[in-house]
Amino acid sequence: MKTIRDFDLNNKKVIIRVDFNVPMKDGIILDDNRIRSSLKTIKYAIDNNAKVILMSHLGRIKTSEDKVNNSLKEVSVRLSELLNKDVLFIPETRGKLLENTINNMNPKDVVLIENTRYEDLNDKAESSNNETLGKYWASLGDIFINDAFATSHRSHASNVGISKYLPSGIGFLIEKELKALDLNNAKRPLTIILGGSKVSDKIGLINNLALKADNILIGGGMAYTFIKASGIDVGSSLLDKENIAFAKEMLEKYKDKIVLPIDSVNRDSNGLIRTCFINEIRSDETGLDIGIQTIKLFKNYLLDSKTIIWNGPVGMFEESPFDNGTKELCNILKNIDAVKIAGGGDTASAVINLGYKNVFTHISTGGGASLELLEGKKLPGVIYEKENN
Ligand code: 3PG
Repeated sequence: MKTIRDFDLNNKKVIIRVDFNVPMKDGIILDDNRIRSSLKTIKYAIDNNAKVILMSHLGRIKTSEDKVNNSLKEVSVRLSELLNKDVLFIPETRGKLLENTINNMNPKDVVLIENTRYEDLNDKAESSNNETLGKYWASLGDIFINDAFATSHRSHASNVGISKYLPSGIGFLIEKELKALDLNNAKRPLTIILGGSKVSDKIGLINNLALKADNILIGGGMAYTFIKASGIDVGSSLLDKENIAFAKEMLEKYKDKIVLPIDSVNRDSNGLIRTCFINEIRSDETGLDIGIQTIKLFKNYLLDSKTIIWNGPVGMFEESPFDNGTKELCNILKNIDAVKIAGGGDTASAVINLGYKNVFTHISTGGGASLELLEGKKLPGVIYEKENN
């Protein structure tokens, strides 16, 4: 796999696909983490005298109204502040203005092209990886670097499409993410904390992790399906009925690895909150977090671990006191000397919003992408090997 280091960038038009799909409200960027995560690659290209052409999507574009709220203009302003350098925003995804601007670039100049998904109004050209579009975008540059880890589970014109027509490689962010999420080289014991609500979202993950991990600690809404599968009633807790059989099969096959909660924090139909042992959940109670006994149990496994990967919050972290389990596990991790990785999406928001960002060795920038990687899949947007490189 080639990386940006393998190319001579001097005076070359280098297209870098980044993931600037940042949360925005009323034109204001709520979290610039994804922009910051791309800086290393962008700065490297500038330092090596490239003409830097940035591309990204933002949101999903289904109607012309979607375009109004999903322009990358604000992102170019923030990027310019972070780089302490002018970033020229090109409000087009194709056409003369775009082509002329790029042709007039000097080494070290940085431009950001408008949201690639504007092209989705054109028969989903970006998202369906339209051949002509990929070829056109490739014609704008000399080298293609994909650093949009969070989009790399998608096969779109602005990643897979362009890479077909240009010498291509990955940037520093993708390189770092692939290394962090590589379970094959993880130091052991390897413990996975699995949470989130639906078992159905995690079937591929459980299948793959069960083979590789030493311990799988299950919390969150999905734990109640496993508890039910083990023969214990869970009252009104979330149940993924279609996957009880799958949960049962996993429990039988991996009984030495899977660890389930032994107590639960519940809320009843009157709003009363109560913690009880797992076999004492009443019919009108909904389990919303792991209890103190479970936290202690999980702690024993975590203390021995050399690598800990966390995917999915273990309780309803958005609402106190059901954020306690997730918070307490973060507090435990704080004092453990191990490689500690948090998956993207909900896990990343949970640990960052609860103030535990610094506890982790790595917090993935990709939700779907990190999930697919942990499922053992190859990501289409990662340029593993290519004939024209
Ligand atoms: C993400 O936020 O997960 C990525 O940017 C991909 O976005 P998408 O799910 O809209 O393709």
